[in-house]
Amino acid sequence: MNERDSEHIIAELEEKENYTLTKNPKEADLILINTCSVREKPEKKLFSEIGQYAKIKKEDAKIGICGCTASHLGDEILKKSKAVNFVLGARNVSKISQILHKDRVAWVDIDYDDSTYVFSSKHNSTLKGMINISIGCDKQCTYCIVPHTRGNEISIPADLILKEAKKLVDNGTKEILLLGQNVNNYGRRFSNDHRKINFTQLLNEISQINGLERIRFTSPHPLHMDDEFINEFATNPKVCKAIHMPLQSGSTKILQKMKRGYSKEWFLDRVAKMRSLIPELSIGTDIIVGFPTESEEDFLDTLDVLEKVRFDTLYSFIYSTRPHTQAATWLDNGEIQLLDEETAKNRLIILKDKHKEILAQENAKQLGKIHPVLFESYDEENLLLEGRSDTNKLIRVKAGRNLIGEICNVKISEIKGAQLIGELL
Ligand code: 5AD
Ligand code: SF4
Repeated sequence: MNERDSEHIIAELEEKENYTLTKNPKEADLILINTCSVREKPEKKLFSEIGQYAKIKKEDAKIGICGCTASHLGDEILKKSKAVNFVLGARNVSKISQILHKDRVAWVDIDYDDSTYVFSSKHNSTLKGMINISIGCDKQCTYCIVPHTRGNEISIPADLILKEAKKLVDNGTKEILLLGQNVNNYGRRFSNDHRKINFTQLLNEISQINGLERIRFTSPHPLHMDDEFINEFATNPKVCKAIHMPLQSGSTKILQKMKRGYSKEWFLDRVAKMRSLIPELSIGTDIIVGFPTESEEDFLDTLDVLEKVRFDTLYSFIYSTRPHTQAATWLDNGEIQLLDEETAKNRLIILKDKHKEILAQENAKQLGKIHPVLFESYDEENLLLEGRSDTNKLIRVKAGRNLIGEICNVKISEIKGAQLIGELL
């Protein structure tokens, strides 16, 4: 989401303010830091980063802080650092060219109207493009700061999304990644009287664009994975067979405390349903360990889901207390206690080790498998062409760079650790 917001910010500045990009901060007239606030650690790094840029920047260069930490800390950033010229929240991206001309202000409101998502567009890659389909989140997961920083969920009108997708494909894009905090809740709320369609219908309409080869999306919510969605996902040949399913915890008790809205059984049932229709399906997940009150038994439930689903990718985190969340309030008033750091750290290690084991076993099964690969880049050092399978696996092949942009069938011939090497068919 931040990457896409950065693309929008850059496009606005290039088109309206004649800026160009530089990789050298010492040369920059404007330094923007696009921040995340989902866990505490990156937030803490912000002020040291501001200090470093302030030291090396040109004398009259401006510094702006954007993104979720901007939304969450707002004015506080200006108070803490004299070097910052402006603060622009994650939901205010479209105002970048206005705030640029102000000094020492913070714009972090989370109201919305059509202007929230009407801004210039630029895509870093021509082959693959990202499109936001919704902004914000209506869920209230008790650990999560995002509803506070990005505001209520609002769906971007389908006709705007389709227009953007067609424009991308006309410019050579083969693969589109649809983005939202909760993509499969698409259509729940529009800012005006826009055409009402749901995520399944949106996927279907986008897939009808001639010349578009692949559609991916992130993140869907396990709760909204109904049969209608699963059927479209399974049967639409342009929809890639890789899905991110953030589990968070395998324990129904902890899921209830997290207010995720589903149980361990529901999650496993949705996986089973999808796997019965798509045997080759690749599934990724996010897991939080050490949520307050997580017992050994709860953690074993998480390991159990890990072993049953055998996720292809895993992002795992130790619970981090965030302000403006329900869990933080419960901790403050003593209703629940933080787990000791040692236990949480150990659980993370156990989880990651178990996942590594599973990955090695699953990767070994890839030998001899055939995948359609969209080639994206060339590794000059090893003379290997790199691309992703429909199931989002990184595959490398001995072939020339002239195949970049093509989708070719590749047979896996070698497995080097986590790397898959193949031969063109
Ligand atoms: N602590 C740890 N991890 C968190 N995430 C969100 N909030 C927290 C938190 N307070 C994780 C979730 C989410 C991912 C983007 O970040 O797993 O899916
Ligand atoms: Fe956060 Fe939950 Fe919304 Fe995801 S669904 S952004 S975890 S509140």
